[in-house]
Amino acid sequence: MSISVVLGSFYGDEGKGKIIDLLAQDSYIAVRATGGNNAGHTIKYGNKKFSIHLIPSGILVESSLALIGNGVVINPKVLINEIEMFRNEGVKIDGRLFISENAHVIFPYHIIQDKLEEAYRGARKIGTTARGIGPVLQDKVGRFGIRMGDLLSGIYKQRLEEIWDLKIGYLSTLRKLTRLDIELPRLQDVIAEYEEYALYLKPYIANTTYMLNEAVEQNKNILCEGAQATLLDIDFGNYPFVTSSNPTTGGIISGTGLGEMASNGSVNIYGVLKAYSSRVGEGSYVTEQDNEIGDKIRDLGHEYGTTTGRPRRCGWLDIPALKYAARVNGITGWALNHLDTVGKLKKIRLCIAYQRDGIITDEFSANETYLQDCIPVYEEFEMNFGDISNIKKREDLPENARKYLARIEELTGVPIAFIGTGADRDDIIIC
Ligand code: GDP
Ligand code: IMO
Ligand code: MG
Repeated sequence: MSISVVLGSFYGDEGKGKIIDLLAQDSYIAVRATGGNNAGHTIKYGNKKFSIHLIPSGILVESSLALIGNGVVINPKVLINEIEMFRNEGVKIDGRLFISENAHVIFPYHIIQDKLEEAYRGARKIGTTARGIGPVLQDKVGRFGIRMGDLLSGIYKQRLEEIWDLKIGYLSTLRKLTRLDIELPRLQDVIAEYEEYALYLKPYIANTTYMLNEAVEQNKNILCEGAQATLLDIDFGNYPFVTSSNPTTGGIISGTGLGEMASNGSVNIYGVLKAYSSRVGEGSYVTEQDNEIGDKIRDLGHEYGTTTGRPRRCGWLDIPALKYAARVNGITGWALNHLDTVGKLKKIRLCIAYQRDGIITDEFSANETYLQDCIPVYEEFEMNFGDISNIKKREDLPENARKYLARIEELTGVPIAFIGTGADRDDIIIC
């Protein structure tokens, strides 16, 4: 039995979907643990391309079950659309997809709240995906939340009635303060809309924690799918420019109930990264190339958001940040994607340390005030190699690529387990 975890090591969009798709081949269950439809995971094969926001990417591997854990926040409309999209593609859903009864539900007022709060922040906006993620998690912690199990029992109607004045009161205040003319929802409409969703989703709602731990007892392989990334973590990320959950290892345990992870020696925690880096949304980014180099990387790597279509900010890899991600998550191996993309550049840079107040350090803190004072110290690497998508062994890679990979391992102390050599599902080297 093994438990494998796939996590983002930087600011998201590292190519987690592709690694999940590979690892799901050997898994009995693939479980999404955190986030919601703020995530966008891309899987390509042949001329097919899937952009998946909510359903575990493991759904594309028919031998695996796909579970949405209690830590995920669910917009039922998005979920139903995604189920229908997969059905139309001939992907089997019934008997394979299960949704935790304890996962919290996103309502229309959460999405409106997200937009209004961003407007209220003005110049200090976070750059959220406007999917209602922050507000639904505020309600979860504030104990005003409604869970999938409440949809099933029908109790959600009573809960909505109880909290309605509070929610609408807050939204009305925000509307006044921001002067944004957003129409507010009506209770009866929301109840009617969600009644339909409840009916549709009923067969999928389950006790996923029990299912997962039964599978552990039966020595089955489990794959935990992370969303977002370490530096977007509410505790360990670049606060306040973060998401409202814990996309790090701790969040995987609390978002699934897989306590076995804490005591089992055979847990593989894969930190996904790109051979360069990217970020969407506001906040510090020490190695950002807000210049023609960044534009070139964006073009070569097709760096536009899977969820919002926003152009991603691009830059170089940041070793102090990666070391931090390795420690915070207990990463046992890197999955490094887009080696092919940096091969199209003549030379690239790797940030090996920071200079702060004239002192060279590899100490990382995700605090905004700390990062703003960091000047990156770079090493340069020759790249300039051709297509590597057919290479299946690390030792067959061009020498320039091998040197870069070896340096990343040396500086982080973590071995590279997978190397992405192209966007297609098969463009990967298993080390
Ligand atoms: P995720 O959110 O971490 O799953 O990543 P996204 O899907 O948002 O963004 C990663 C992008 O990189 C997608 O467009 C993938 O198809 C693409 N991708 C992943 N690995 C590779 C790789 O090794 N090479 C290239 N060229 N593209 C890759
Ligand atoms: P995947 O799983 C990249 C960012 C948003 C914003 C901040 C808060 O595809 O890697 P939120 O809507 O969560 O309140 O937004 O977090 N963000 C992501 N950036 N990839 C993601 O997911 C992200 N999910 C959230 O851009 O800066
Ligand atoms: Mg993404």
